Amino acid sequence: MDVINLLPSPPHFFRLFFRLALSLFNSTLHANYRRALVERRSHIEFDIDSETGFFPSRKLPQLPNTFDMWESALAEANGKLCLGDDDREEAIEKRPLGEAWRSSIRAWPVLDTEQLQNDLRLLQRAHFVLAWLVNFYVHSQPPTGNGADIIVPKSLTLPLVAVSRCLGIAPVLTFADTVLWNCEPIDPSQPLSASNIRFINLFSGTEDEENFYVASARAELRGVEMLRIIDDYNNLPTFTDLTTISKVSRDLNRLASIIGEISEIIRSVRPTCDPHVFYFDIRPWFEGSGAKGPNAPKWIYEGIEDSSKLDLSGPSAGQSSVMHALDIFLDIDHKLREKRVPSPSESNKRADRGFMERMRRYMPGRHREYLNFLAVTPKSVRQLAQSIPTLRDPYDNAVLALKRLRDQHMKIACLYVVTMSRQTSARGCPVSAMMAKLEESRASGSEPVRGTGGNELSALLKAGRDATARATLKRN
Ligand code: HEM
Repeated sequence: MDVINLLPSPPHFFRLFFRLALSLFNSTLHANYRRALVERRSHIEFDIDSETGFFPSRKLPQLPNTFDMWESALAEANGKLCLGDDDREEAIEKRPLGEAWRSSIRAWPVLDTEQLQNDLRLLQRAHFVLAWLVNFYVHSQPPTGNGADIIVPKSLTLPLVAVSRCLGIAPVLTFADTVLWNCEPIDPSQPLSASNIRFINLFSGTEDEENFYVASARAELRGVEMLRIIDDYNNLPTFTDLTTISKVSRDLNRLASIIGEISEIIRSVRPTCDPHVFYFDIRPWFEGSGAKGPNAPKWIYEGIEDSSKLDLSGPSAGQSSVMHALDIFLDIDHKLREKRVPSPSESNKRADRGFMERMRRYMPGRHREYLNFLAVTPKSVRQLAQSIPTLRDPYDNAVLALKRLRDQHMKIACLYVVTMSRQTSARGCPVSAMMAKLEESRASGSEPVRGTGGNELSALLKAGRDATARATLKRN
């Protein structure tokens, strides 16, 4: 049989050939266009830098002259004010300075922030300055002892709420203010990196505080490569060919090793940040409204209607967008919506399931939009690994690395918060501090230890760890 005779006549054959070539060209074009679109969106629209991730690529600029009084008040307070309940001699000596500082803020006019509204970096700087001022203001006040709510003056609250609305972020000190927007390269001629970073504002002025921020920043910077892996995955035009499957497999294994490095970073905080200093001298500055429980004094934002409805918890690495991106990519079900094994324990069910979702309200709006964008990607890597047996182990490796990270993090949080909460402060007279502590726990009926944001800590962190473990495919 003559094969040539079986082929369509030449014009028809060429038409078919061209149609095929055109459709191949179109699909490549479409895939490239989609990739370019996704990359463009992630880098510009979501305010993510290809080298520094969620950090701005440069130090935030100072505010224009109109806002000098905000900038100077922050420079004045930086590391110099004392916690209001610090009854050491040097802290008591500094109280008049704190009182004068606070009363000048109360006397300030309310500045209009309209001129900042078209400049993202200036808006971020304004949020950073005002949010730090609020926490300095609140926590440097000596306790009144009458349980009254704390009034934050309108010279801070009105502009803070205005810039927060533009940025889509909670009007309070966040992870972005303490870490992402609070640093600069030591050597400005070199890019920001884990070894070329220093922090601008400190509450306690201690090296321990700076080292705590450095650990968070190192984890965040290490996460930039994770973002690249996630973006690569989302840009894959197809999931059917062998080359793609082996790339996904390699990337999942790479992800597991980066997560392992982040666990090491979390552990590395131990020799450089003393748990006692952290718990008694640093952490109290972070506390947000109602951090000490439902009956503790709340913050009232003067001049803001329905101020009680604002998100006013303290900063937490739970607000790190990198960690959320990882959770979304690996499909960790913190809200216990999926049926996975083993079933959640009673303690898991009682823990605060909405914590991670709530923490997103404390992220810059564009970073939250990036997470929303990730959450609607057409093919989840977990589903892909479920359908392709060779991907199951690499996927499980990444999930188990994240589970180990959460185990490691629980150890640190337990040492720095739970254990320390049972100790007495080294400040002032040890006997009176111990008596005060006993009095406090008696009055509160042995309250559970709460996290920075007022959460029951152990149950919360265990629930996150168990939700992570439940994503593995081997048992599911
Ligand atoms: C001294 C070091 C640290 C302590 C004492 C600590 C403490 C805590 C506490 C108390 C929470 C509960 C939520 C809250 O109330 O804020 C928390 C949550 C969290 N922390 Fe840390 N943390 C430390 C370092 C880090 C570092 C370096 C990272 C970087 C990855 C990190 C990541 C997280 C995440 C992602 C959460 C949300 C809960 C979860 O995902 O399991 N923490 N941390």
